[in-house]
Amino acid sequence: MYMLQGKKVVLGITGSIAAYKAAYLSRALIKKGAEVQIVITPAGKEFITPVTLSALTQKPVISEFFTANDGTWHSHVDIGLWADLMLIAPATAATIGKMAHGIADNMLITTYLSMKAPVFVAPAMDLDMFAHPSTQENIDKLRSYGNIIIEPATGYLASALEGKGRMEEPDNIVKVLEDYFKKKNDLNQKKILITAGPTYEKIDPVRYISNYSSGKMGYALAEECASRGAEVILISGPVQLKAKNPKITTVQVESAEEMHRKAKEYFPETDAGILCAAVADFKPAHYAEHKMKRQPGEPMELVLIPNPDIAASLGEIKKPHQILAGFALETENGIQNAERKLKKKNLDFIVLNSLSDEGAGFQNNTNKVTIIDSGSNVIDYPLKPKKEVAEDIIDYLMNYL
Ligand code: C5P
Repeated sequence: MYMLQGKKVVLGITGSIAAYKAAYLSRALIKKGAEVQIVITPAGKEFITPVTLSALTQKPVISEFFTANDGTWHSHVDIGLWADLMLIAPATAATIGKMAHGIADNMLITTYLSMKAPVFVAPAMDLDMFAHPSTQENIDKLRSYGNIIIEPATGYLASALEGKGRMEEPDNIVKVLEDYFKKKNDLNQKKILITAGPTYEKIDPVRYISNYSSGKMGYALAEECASRGAEVILISGPVQLKAKNPKITTVQVESAEEMHRKAKEYFPETDAGILCAAVADFKPAHYAEHKMKRQPGEPMELVLIPNPDIAASLGEIKKPHQILAGFALETENGIQNAERKLKKKNLDFIVLNSLSDEGAGFQNNTNKVTIIDSGSNVIDYPLKPKKEVAEDIIDYLMNYL
C-alpha cells in the first residue's frame, strides 16, 4: 500500500547545490501518490528553475508573498493548514538557522512557522558547516520543536571534500516519510501509561532528596506513543518539560508515594506501562514541619525508609493482555542486574542504559540502550538522540501489542 497516497506535501527547497535532487524528489513523491506544493527560497531558484518544478508537480511554484504580475497573495497560513507534512530538502545552514530562531524573511520560513503538519528537514551543506557548533545547536533546537531531522549522508561533496553533509538520497527520504505514515496509526485505540522524571522526597519545607533525572526520555516516549495514535497518561515528577501532543494527559506528582498511587489508579485501564521514572528509593522517615536547624559542629542524622517499588506493584496487578516495561540504569554488571530486575518486577522487557557509556543516561539529549526481554533476548542499539531511542523502544513494544 502507498502510505503517501493522497498526502499533501509542502516541499521546501533552499539554496544548496543539492537542490538539483529536488526535481527527482518531487517526482518520487508524486509517483507514490502525493500531491506536492513547492515553496522555494530566492536562493533556491538560483540552483533549480521553478519551471522544471512546476512542470513536474503541475502546480505553480511559490516563492514570493504575492505574484508580481497580478498581485495574488500566497497565504502561508493556508498552506500550513492544507499540508499533511512539510519537507525541507535540501535545507541549508542559513535556512536551518532562520527556522531555529523564527527569522521569517521569506515565504518558506513564514510557511514553516505557520505549519500545522509535521516538518521533516534534510540538511545539505559542506562538512565543516554541518559540524559547526552553531549548526548543530540549531538542529537540536529544531528537534526540540518536534521537527524530524533526516540526517545527511557521508560521502563526496560538491566542494570536492568528503564528509558528512550530503543531502540524503531522495528515495531514502521518501522511505522516511512512508515509514512515518505507516507508524502514525500503529497505536490507535491503545492506552499507555508512562512514568517520567525524578521524585522529590521532602525532608522539611525547604529541602528534599532527589536525583538528576531530566524526564527527557519519558517525555520522548510519551510523544512517540501519542504521535502513533495512542492515548497517553504521563505521570511525571517535577521536570522542566511540557508534553506537546494533545493526546497526552500529564498527571503531575512530586513524591514516589504520589506517583505510586496515581500509577496504580491508571494502570488497570491501559494496554501497556512504560516505567521510565527515576523513583527515589528512599524517603525521610519523618517530615519536619519546620525548617531543620543546624547544630554547630554536630553531625546531622537523617533516617531514610524505602519507597514503594511502583514497577513491582504494577507487575503484581498486571493482566495477561497488559505489557509492562521498565528501565535500568546500572554502573556495573548491566545485563545481569537488568535481567534480575526484569524477573523481580514481572516486566515483559527492560531497557538498560549504562552510565559508563558517554552520552547515555541522565540529562543528555542522547542515549544508548540495550533491550532485554523475558525470553532473555538481548538487543543492543547505538548511541542516538532520545527521540530516536524512543522510536526504537516503541517499535519494540509493537511486537507485543
Ligand atoms: O530497581 P531499580 O530502581 O533499578 O529499577 C528501575 C525500574 O524500576 C525503572 O523502570 C523505574 O521506573 C522502576 N522503579 C519504580 N519504583 C521504584 C523504583 C524503581 O517504578 N521505587
